Amino acid sequence: MIKEEYHFNYEVYDSIDDLTEDDKWLLDEAREVTQHAYAPYSRFQVGAVAKLVNGEIIAGSNQENASFPAGLCAERVVLASVSSLYPKVPIETMAISYFNNNGESNHPISPCGICRQALQEFTEKTKTPIRLILGGMHGKVYIIPAASMLLPLSFTSKDLQ
Ligand code: THU
Repeated sequence: MIKEEYHFNYEVYDSIDDLTEDDKWLLDEAREVTQHAYAPYSRFQVGAVAKLVNGEIIAGSNQENASFPAGLCAERVVLASVSSLYPKVPIETMAISYFNNNGESNHPISPCGICRQALQEFTEKTKTPIRLILGGMHGKVYIIPAASMLLPLSFTSKDLQ
């Protein structure tokens, strides 16, 4: 038997003010787009904004449904839009923010399990890592160099061959 280890490094900033101008702008857009969420059930509004390598900006927010499993996370709304509007164009960076009507919005949230899987598929399709900027309405900000780092030992198309 051998033991394997998995580590990843990410950056922690005290506030949005410590980011570069480009990153600050993208996270601010994600904060704004939380207002477009349709989240009457959870009252947890998520915004995600992708900057593509061709410079285009694509925004999305969570869209819930009375049939709860039919709801969509902000991240997957963005991935589907990017794939539909700009097929095969890689995402350089995605910023994710949220507005929690039930409490504070003061720490970064990271993508749910299904979104990690969807981010992984997109990464493989475009052969390009997706950098993530995670932050609430205020408080610390995390920058994760590649979304794939959040899903070690992932199940991928290669496993189906
Ligand atoms: N949600 C997202 O949109 N992205 C995440 O990363 C976490 C959760 C949404 C799903 C649901 O509409 C609400 O937030 C509460 O889970």
